[in-house]
Amino acid sequence: MTMKIRFSRHRKTEIKPPRHIAIVLDGNGRWASRRGLPRSAGHAVGAETFRTIATYCRDIGVEYLTCYAFSTENWSRPAEEVSAIWELLRKYLIESLEKMERDRVKIRIMGDRADMPDDIKGLLAQIDEKSAHIDGITLCICLNYGGRQEILHAVRTLAQECERSERKADSISLDDISQNLYSRGIPDPDLIIRPSGELRLSNFLLWQCAYSEFYFTDVLWPDFKPSDIDQAIAEYSRRDRRFGGVKAKGR
Ligand code: FPP
Repeated sequence: MTMKIRFSRHRKTEIKPPRHIAIVLDGNGRWASRRGLPRSAGHAVGAETFRTIATYCRDIGVEYLTCYAFSTENWSRPAEEVSAIWELLRKYLIESLEKMERDRVKIRIMGDRADMPDDIKGLLAQIDEKSAHIDGITLCICLNYGGRQEILHAVRTLAQECERSERKADSISLDDISQNLYSRGIPDPDLIIRPSGELRLSNFLLWQCAYSEFYFTDVLWPDFKPSDIDQAIAEYSRRDRRFGGVKAKGR
């Protein structure tokens, strides 16, 4: 599927969207503070923005959209804010269970489920089951997620396999590590977007980002619009991805 992006009133260009876009949902707190609102109000608008952007990405043919919604470090925020975020996530998961088949949306949760509230664990089990039968965009939601923790988990799993069997550590390949990450089976992100003016990854997809392109913008996540996705894709389409090789002939 191709999308049309209007660069100016006189010129239209067809651009194929990246297969996998990943986004750090950042700037909710500042968005709310600037309006004299509690931070939770920024998260509530941020959740709405995610709904809009996910629908837009599906409509333009993006196959995978990953978002960083709650990191392993976010538990250190005030209890009131943490519970407001989980309440929004709970609402989103319940609503998704009702609508995901109709909307052709598959959901994959990436992160450590052990410390999550029990009812959320139950919802996630239902989401996993439903998602297995759906064909459509895959939304990967990173919850209680940390990139280093994800790699540690994969390394421990492989080390335990070596302990339990005749397997030699030397036989562990890059692919074995990829296959033991939360993102197993999902292609690496082509484009990682971080709104809100911060220029860092914050423990997001550390293994998977090896050859991702980055797009940073000052727009705060609650203000993020489909046109910001268009801009990110337009910039991405001008990048020359070489994956450590040389420039393709004729480019
Ligand atoms: C980062 O902004 C945002 C979060 C830690 C929470 C994001 C979660 C949601 C929007 C809840 C719902 C999510 C989905 C997928 C339905 P920040 O608070 O760090 O912003 P700041 O840097 O301006 O303080």
